Amino acid sequence: MSPKITVIGLGYLGATHAAAMAELGFEVLGLDVVPEKIARLARGEAPMYEPGLDELLRRHVAGLPGSTGRLSFTESPAEVAAFGDIHFVCVNTPQKPGEYACDMSYVDAAVDALAPHLTRPALVVGKSTVPVGSAARLARRLAELAPAGADAELAWNPEFLREGFAVEDTLRPDRIVVGVTGERAETLLREVYATPLAGGTPFIVADLPTAELVKTAANAFLSTKISFINAMAEICEAADGDVVTLAEALGHDDRIGRKFLRAGIGFGGGCLPKDIRAFMARAGELGAAEALSFLREIDSINMRRRAAMVELTRETLGGSLLGKRVAVLGAAFKPDSDDVRDSPALNIAGQLHLQGAEVTVYDPKAMVNARGVFPTLRYADTAAAAIQGAHAVLHLTEWREFRELDPAALGELVADRQVLDGRNALDPALWRKAGWTYRALGRPTA
Ligand code: UDX
Repeated sequence: MSPKITVIGLGYLGATHAAAMAELGFEVLGLDVVPEKIARLARGEAPMYEPGLDELLRRHVAGLPGSTGRLSFTESPAEVAAFGDIHFVCVNTPQKPGEYACDMSYVDAAVDALAPHLTRPALVVGKSTVPVGSAARLARRLAELAPAGADAELAWNPEFLREGFAVEDTLRPDRIVVGVTGERAETLLREVYATPLAGGTPFIVADLPTAELVKTAANAFLSTKISFINAMAEICEAADGDVVTLAEALGHDDRIGRKFLRAGIGFGGGCLPKDIRAFMARAGELGAAEALSFLREIDSINMRRRAAMVELTRETLGGSLLGKRVAVLGAAFKPDSDDVRDSPALNIAGQLHLQGAEVTVYDPKAMVNARGVFPTLRYADTAAAAIQGAHAVLHLTEWREFRELDPAALGELVADRQVLDGRNALDPALWRKAGWTYRALGRPTA
């Protein structure tokens, strides 16, 4: 019989993982401590905007018409313990306020709540991004708290999903990495991932610390790639070069590759920024701070790009932002997401506002979240409404909708035809042909 699965924590990671496990044919019980989240999920609605996730939920959530009924939810750790053979821990590990280190309290609380109820053999599998060494600590904690004889084991199985592609990445991952201490965990996890494994997905078996490290190292590498090209953008700005052509030429070298070389306002979101900081903090605790001192530079290049965008706007507007109307297209940290956590777009909009500009923001999906974080900005319901009367239009999140805008028609709405492309994703020729001044980070102004 197939193992029964539970998923603890139903945010970006957990909601997607739970739905994907049901899609792979397992009986799944999801747990969260927020009753509203459970209520939403039980209606077949994802807690965030994620392409394809609502459909997946509606296909499997118990009680919905025509569903397989394989996915249900609870707030009770006792129910979860009684139900599952495998418990995936998917709670978040945010940055601690005012510190680099990550806050492990949700992971610790999840294990503490579950363990005392584990009265039958169980595999607890961590998926959250954690400082290396956490899995070994949690394994000890589990052994201490699980009732005697409850044969509970801990494994680590980092998740590499990207927002906007979460369903795709979960059902068809690039690779599956498992950190285990024994054969039983490996066998169970091979069973869980039998479908992707049959499709040829590589399965990498590691010890606990290596499995934890794969995730943090991957995010450190991706951040480094983005900051590298953004550092080249700074050089292009100083030397009149063009970073877009440079990136394209570099990317044709297979050893470098084309992905993650888009220069612009840099990386944000709930993962990369906090993960590189937590990685540095952990290296410090381990006495290996020097090994990751370059990440400090990666972080600071990244933050400088936000400031550079504010400066480019000021310069474009004749040296002062006071009273100037600025339209900001995009608030989410990346397209196809409504996530505004550490969003470069919203951060830049906020800085311009604080420096006296009249900023109006439009985003296809992230308006509710943006309003929550930055209620004092103005928001418009469409790109055209945001652009109305603007002295400058800033393109800060590269939604497809923005690439498809008609510059000629928009030109009729603005006070000045000035577009600043923070993502190097618009077609400069198209905008210039329609009479706009097109400027971007790392590119010469034609
Ligand atoms: C990232 C990792 O990609 C994923 O594997 C991990 O599980 C979680 O963190 P995510 O945060 O969803 O995923 O977004 P990602 O697509 O990596 O983009 C991160 C940020 O980098 C975004 O703000 C994006 O706009 C920016 N970015 C990305 C660039 O500025 N340039 C690029 O070339 C690529």
